[in-house]
Amino acid sequence: MKKRSWAEPFKIKMVELLTMTTREERKRAIAEAGYNTFLLRSADVYIDLLTDSGTSAMSDYQWSGIMLGDEAYAGSKNFYHLEEAVQQYYGYRQLVPTHQGRGAEHILSQIMIKNGDYIPGNMYFTTTRYHQERAGGTFVDVIIDEAHESQSSHPFKGNIDLTKLRDLINRVGAEKIPYISVQVTVNMAGGQPVSLANLREVYALCSRHGIKVILDATRAIENAYFIQQREAGYSTKTIAAILREMCSYSDGATMSGKKDSLVNIGGWLALNDEDKASEARSLLVAFEGLQTYGGMAGRDMEAMARGIAESVQDDHIRARIGQVQYLGNLLLEAGIPVVTPIGGHGVFLDARVILPHLEQEQLPAQALASALYIESGVRGMERGTVSAGRDPAGNNRHPKLELVRLTIPRRVYTQAHMDVTAEGVSEVVQNADKIRGLKFIFEPEALRFFQARFAPITADQVYEVP
Ligand code: F0G
Repeated sequence: MKKRSWAEPFKIKMVELLTMTTREERKRAIAEAGYNTFLLRSADVYIDLLTDSGTSAMSDYQWSGIMLGDEAYAGSKNFYHLEEAVQQYYGYRQLVPTHQGRGAEHILSQIMIKNGDYIPGNMYFTTTRYHQERAGGTFVDVIIDEAHESQSSHPFKGNIDLTKLRDLINRVGAEKIPYISVQVTVNMAGGQPVSLANLREVYALCSRHGIKVILDATRAIENAYFIQQREAGYSTKTIAAILREMCSYSDGATMSGKKDSLVNIGGWLALNDEDKASEARSLLVAFEGLQTYGGMAGRDMEAMARGIAESVQDDHIRARIGQVQYLGNLLLEAGIPVVTPIGGHGVFLDARVILPHLEQEQLPAQALASALYIESGVRGMERGTVSAGRDPAGNNRHPKLELVRLTIPRRVYTQAHMDVTAEGVSEVVQNADKIRGLKFIFEPEALRFFQARFAPITADQVYEVP
């Protein structure tokens, strides 16, 4: 026995009961939800793989921190604990707490971006790009081409293509590029990591041109794990050491604490530049809350401070990603087309390959997510045409990746839940020819995937198995 399994470094002290539904109930529920899994009630879901955001299980140590919430309006003890944790583990000097990641993105975009600026990034994230555009910027994708190929086996598919970045600098001029936003890992590419070598080069190039590097550190711990596993020279380094090195190649970060940090709410913006941090705090007090709570309760900040310390433990992250890879490998063995390599926070089904009879305009990933729910009670999420939205001219974007994301919450589900999920996916893929396309019947203006409603194009139901 050479290989150790990924078994969890915790045991279960409390459980939350789940509802089991019938197929008829699920068909009704998804129709009522307008074939949008975001509009399902969680009570109608068996295994909820919609997102890993805010859905983690906290430890007893975090829960005990909840009782130590210092709810003073100003200067809460818990803020200082959080500040120490971010300084110690991420290494940034100035902490600006926010209610979640998009609060940090909003403030960063407003203080950094001027009308007509360009903001390069390694593939877009929905809320990040939204705030950049709202501030008058244009997002430019500078990720390597392999990231857009679902079957590429590149170990660091999240890497920045330095030629694309240099071309942008030459084309628009460095003074039009206030910063580059580097996601570690890249959510929409399938949870794919960026190598340290790449981060180092990006930082050197940008520093030469006076362009700031801002990490989207939402899943930086997961990124650190892939560096430890895949990058030469890092196999004996701790996750904590790798994280510090990653952050040292940046000037600041935005963070959704709802992922890596094992909490249900919270986020932050961190910057090394004191003047910029002061500007950020001026907006913070208008939009989020005072500089020592920014939209979080004292207890939330305590839970996050403790969650950060747990999140960098090597045993934790090995089990967390081990579980994601366990599900991914089950699906690969069953011949299901998924994004490879398996990413850090979820397994991504390739709806284009699974549903070759549907055009992208017929929203195959949205339809596949609905069918999977009907088949199994598993809730996933569309990450394709619907999520990509419209470009500033109003046309539908057509991303190369048309995916259904099965996102694994941290420390929540068991191996048996992963087995049941794989069985449900296999069943629906075997019946893929019974899945019909969808069309919009309601399309909100911003971030449409959250609230849009759909109807099957040619039949009453999206998925009917005789
Ligand atoms: N950046 C990344 C890479 C994210 O994945 C998210 C959220 C955010 C920023 C925004 O953070 O939700 O705290 O405001 N991702 C969630 C998801 C919603 O399901 O992938 P937030």
